[in-house]
Amino acid sequence: FAVRAAGYEAELVKTAKTIASPGRGILAIDESSATCGLRLSSIGLENNEPNRQLYRQLLLETPGLGEYISGAILFEETLYQSTTAGKKMVDVLAEQKIVAGIKVDKGLVPLPGSNNESWCQGLDGLASRTAAYYKQGARFAKWRTVVSIPNGPSELAVQEAAWGLARYAAICQDNGLVPIVEPEVLLDGAHSIERTQAVAEKVWATTMFHLAQNHVLFEGILLKPSMVTPGNEHGQKATPEQIASATLAMLRRTVPPAVPGIMFLSGGQSEVEATLNLNAMNQSPNPWHVSFSYARALQNSVLKAWQGRPENVEAAQKALLIRAKANSLAQLGLYSA
Ligand code: 13P
Repeated sequence: FAVRAAGYEAELVKTAKTIASPGRGILAIDESSATCGLRLSSIGLENNEPNRQLYRQLLLETPGLGEYISGAILFEETLYQSTTAGKKMVDVLAEQKIVAGIKVDKGLVPLPGSNNESWCQGLDGLASRTAAYYKQGARFAKWRTVVSIPNGPSELAVQEAAWGLARYAAICQDNGLVPIVEPEVLLDGAHSIERTQAVAEKVWATTMFHLAQNHVLFEGILLKPSMVTPGNEHGQKATPEQIASATLAMLRRTVPPAVPGIMFLSGGQSEVEATLNLNAMNQSPNPWHVSFSYARALQNSVLKAWQGRPENVEAAQKALLIRAKANSLAQLGLYSA
């Protein structure tokens, strides 16, 4: 009999349930400073801490956000940051009844011995980092690794991705954080939707196996899969119904109903596509809460509306609320374009 989650079981289950509550999903704003810089440069802003602070503050202070957003994933800088008015970002979230999350992986590096694939680093020192993040107010975490279809995936890359996620998940639970388990099957490539489904089934089956081997409490995790779609260079697009059918079949074959929530990433889909696909997945009851954890599909129109100008903050916040509400309706299966 293995000790698991070091006495945090009840809290983990409660945190996961709160995040996976009806009509709500996750706002992912955990871009590394380099990736946040890409977003800022798309509207002509310099990538420095004051600009990142202004942008994250705009998002998190959006009035009414907590009605549609249950959790926000932050980069470490934001977890320890305050607004320009001196209020801690974690307090802004608490006032909105949004659970604070933290990205804890240290990014992707080449995986020697594979077919030009990568692995995700960040396990060293993770126990002490997660304990510190908990003290700072974080209650869930994210670790994103990727699997590439055109480059394989090799058995080695899949095993490494799954094992790394499982070790990360066990360490998070041991320190009171609900781990979001995210093996992103990348959209890149010319492959069919059937091929994506087969790879995703293999990746999730392997991941669930290693999570069980590591005595991870399934009721205290959240999953962040890619939707099952054709590769982005495949000639034909799939309809939301086809995507929903392939994605849900893949999940039903691999994920036990003990897992409370499936929080999809948007992976480069347009804002409306991501909403329509989620809505299609909620047309009939699922064993899990099926919702969103979008970054780009919640932020694209915000950036466009903002343009870095103080006079546009309100319009930008309205744009965020429009997407958040649309995805909230899609979580309930009630969205129409
Ligand atoms: P996208 O929704 O932009 O794919 O980002 C998801 C993600 O993993 C960031 O947390």
